[in-house]
Amino acid sequence: MTSHEVLADELAKARNRTLRLVDFDDAEVRRQYDPLMSPLVWDLAHIGQQEELWLLRGGDSDRPGLLSPQVDRLYDAFVHSRASRADLPLLPPADARAYCATVRGKALDALAALPDGHPDAFTFGMVISHENQHDETMLQALSLRSGAPLLDRGCALPAGRAELAGTSVLVPAGEFVLGVDAATEPYSLDNERPAHVVDVPGFRIGRVPVTNGEWRQFIDDGGYDQSRWWSEAGWAHRRQAGLTAPLFWNTGAAAGTRTRFGHVEDIPADEPVQHVSYFEAEAYAAWAGARLPTEVEWEKACAWDPHTRSRRRYPWGAAGPTDELANLGGDALRPAPVGAYPAGASTYGVEQMLGDVWEWTTSPLRPWPGFTPMVYDRYSEPFFEGAGTGDYRVLRGGSWAVSPSILRPSFRNWDHPVRRQIFSGVRLAWDIDHV
Ligand SMILES: [Fe+2]
Repeated sequence: MTSHEVLADELAKARNRTLRLVDFDDAEVRRQYDPLMSPLVWDLAHIGQQEELWLLRGGDSDRPGLLSPQVDRLYDAFVHSRASRADLPLLPPADARAYCATVRGKALDALAALPDGHPDAFTFGMVISHENQHDETMLQALSLRSGAPLLDRGCALPAGRAELAGTSVLVPAGEFVLGVDAATEPYSLDNERPAHVVDVPGFRIGRVPVTNGEWRQFIDDGGYDQSRWWSEAGWAHRRQAGLTAPLFWNTGAAAGTRTRFGHVEDIPADEPVQHVSYFEAEAYAAWAGARLPTEVEWEKACAWDPHTRSRRRYPWGAAGPTDELANLGGDALRPAPVGAYPAGASTYGVEQMLGDVWEWTTSPLRPWPGFTPMVYDRYSEPFFEGAGTGDYRVLRGGSWAVSPSILRPSFRNWDHPVRRQIFSGVRLAWDIDHV
């Protein structure tokens, strides 16, 4: 396929996924399941509005578009908080679908008219990433929805190797190349660039993510009741929010079960724990005699090949993700058991770094040296440490809900340390001296 055909194909795949996530009646897609999330119909029209802004209006919101300026503004994520979006005079679902379809037709015309190798191809990649990222956000909303299930339990996944839980591998000290460049990853986003050499002290890192079974031991050992495992801010939050277990774990008579997309089921012991906040992850790590990795450590363990002294495009090598290598794309609706992807291991032998659960790191979001904002210059900069918008921590590796076409070892996500409606989990790390 030509690069234009690849972009057209990725646009189509993202749209198919989006439309499946809003394939419900009007009342359903207008509903706000939780103040943390937008109604699905907002995400739908916002996907179209951003596609129009970046691909048809040159990123200039003053340039006339298909919507009136007042309606266009309803879909500016910086203007309206998620909690307020259900009360806005949003486009009705049918109008939102029609708008997205009209924009898409014009976007494909613009793509066809683009000369091969034109720099604007990057903007198409950015829009594809945006739509796929919103598809994950919509899955977060659907997981918070109460009532009878709308989605099934998800597709089958490979069996795991439960004995890997709690094991770790050594990543010896040494330099590696952090980040990527346009030459190797043309669709990488601004905060992943530029590639640069950093020296990393040796450390150990969990071979697989922390499991539900291990988390259960933390709970049973009183982990949520003892301030000594928690940071000051984490303990204050734990008390104020009344946390006693990961989100969606049931208590009382239903203890030992969780509710997932409306389905009540036993909690599988060998599945990576998900729906834990940074504060919980930090407390678990302290209880386990470990710590969370930095994002630099995480990326080295994921992408570096010390034998060739070069980065791998994916942990397992150059080829793109498949169902045998990682759990991505959203169809599973849950993480795979630990050890399910031996062929997906990194050079160091670390498994399930891409897919399954986003992994909290201790790192605030900072620009790499030489950072240059991309065309959508509000993607990263307002969220950098010191920019005043929050106390974000970086998460790495993507979840089961991330599209395989947008994920790279260098991909950086971030959120507030209290958030846990995201598909977040934990991988431990250790200083070498302490092991
Ligand atoms: Fe967005």
